[in-house]
Formats: sequence, structure tokens, C-alpha cells
Amino acid sequence: MTITLATTIAELKASAAALLAAKAAPGTAGSLGLVPTMGALHAGHAELARTAVAANDVVVATIFVNPLQFGDAVDLERYPRTLEADMALLDGVGVDLVFAPSVEEMYPGGEPMVRITAGELGGKFEGASRPGHFDGALTVVSKLLHLGMGPQAAYRAYFGQKDAQQVALVQRMVVDMNFPVEIAAVPIVRDADGLALSSRNRFLSDDERQAALVLSRALRLLKERADAHEPLDLESAEALVRSAPGVELDYFEVVDPGTLAPRAENCRETPFTGQALALVAAAVGPVRLIDNMLLG
Ligand code: PAF
Repeated sequence: MTITLATTIAELKASAAALLAAKAAPGTAGSLGLVPTMGALHAGHAELARTAVAANDVVVATIFVNPLQFGDAVDLERYPRTLEADMALLDGVGVDLVFAPSVEEMYPGGEPMVRITAGELGGKFEGASRPGHFDGALTVVSKLLHLGMGPQAAYRAYFGQKDAQQVALVQRMVVDMNFPVEIAAVPIVRDADGLALSSRNRFLSDDERQAALVLSRALRLLKERADAHEPLDLESAEALVRSAPGVELDYFEVVDPGTLAPRAENCRETPFTGQALALVAAAVGPVRLIDNMLLG
């Protein structure tokens, strides 16, 4: 393995600076790509990392299971920690450096007194069933983005479009707070049958996995209508999801891709124009799944 592991902030800073000095073109400050993750990496994360490697001189992936974004101590405890396998995957796609700090390194004074708040948007969709989740996620993303700031001339951070609400909130945060970093949303990676890759898919039985395919099928139904500039038939898409055995629909919404404000009403009645994002969440047996698709 050629990848370097940093577990402290001091090691991260020193290694990133040394890598930039070695890898940026002579006389330039180079570019750095940051790929924040919580580990338990799969092919979707590999795609994030590959995209970062293709566009930057140095790529740093972070692996940190952030306690602030878990509502439930049992979920936090159970979250898979697979550092060795994650390092091998990241090394295989050309990531230079992994920052895998302890909780004490990230939060030396215990839980931070001051946090980023995700505001109204943080309480909708995924935030409605996980109160405080996005405040915790934005707080750690803000810290990680600051820790990645260094001598580089260009600074980019990569997030999976699968978590569309997180992407929208991170994008708002860097604009609202003037963070000097460009946020890149990397398209969802799907299995051949259409299921969006997720670390939760491993908990689906064969039958549940079959039933879960209804999510991407319903999204594709809307996309076909949008591509044909027809009014969206949200009712049929919802009915399709509800008809699948063992699938409990939570929400199915068509929203503005940037603000996540609802767009469904005008899309239902008039020919579809412009761009929108269809978001769906459902419980498939014991597993909560989310998926989304850009329309137009
Ligand atoms: O998407 C995730 O894995 C996490 O929310 C993130 C962005 C790494 C913050 O902990």
C-alpha cells in the first residue's frame, strides 16, 4: 500500500503539505480533494474517491464515525468499523492520505458547545425522522473542511448525490458561511438492477432486495415523463411504491434541486420544464432506504 494514515490533526496537516509539495506541478500550490466518509466503504465511495483523484493533485479521504449525527447510542455502537478494508479500497483508487481520527482528537473538550445548525431544511425529509442529524453532520463537515484547508490553490470536497439533502445543506453552508471550498456532488452508483448502492443494502433479505427495486423503478417512471416534457404523474409513482410487498413509503416528493422546496404542484398539471429532483424514502422490511433522481 502506498496510502498514508494520519490519526491526528498534526499528522494530517504535515502529510497533506508534504504530499502537495511533492505532487503539485513545480511552482504551483496544487489542488487538494477531500472525501469525507464514515468508513464501511463500498463501490459508491470508490466512485467518489476516483472522481476526486481524477481532478486533484492530492486526495485526502476522512474516515470518522461522527457521534454527533447519531440519535441512538446503539446505532453508533453498531456502525461497522472496517479501517483496513477501507484503506485497501482507497489505496486501490489512488487516494494519497486517510485521516482517521479518534473521537477525542475531533472533540477534545467533549461535545462541542457551538454547532452548525441546518435550519428549516435540516428538519425536513430525512431530518424529520432523525432530529439533530443534519446539525451533527454539518458540524463535523465544517470541522473537516477547515482541517483540509492548507497551502493548496484549489480546494474541492466530494459528496455522494445519494444523500441529496446532505449535499444541498453542505452546499448552502459553504455559500452562507463563505468557506473557500468547491463542493462536488458525485452521481449515484447503482447495481445492475437499479438499486442505489448503500451500506444498508447488506441488511436486506433476497425478497426485500427484490421489493426495494420499486424505488428506482418509480423514479425512472417520473424521469421518463420529465424527459418527454409531460406533466409528472406523482400519484402513479407513489402507488407503484405502495404496491410493493413489505415496502412502507415515508415520502415521495418532487423538489427544487438547490433549495429542496416542493415543486410537485406545478409539475403535476403543466408540461414539465427545467430541472427538479425526485426524492423517495421507504422502509423495506427493517431497512430504511432513500433514493433520488434528477429530472430534466
Ligand atoms: O455522508 C456521510 O458519510 C457523513 O454524513 C459525513 C459527510 C462523512 C459526515 O460525517
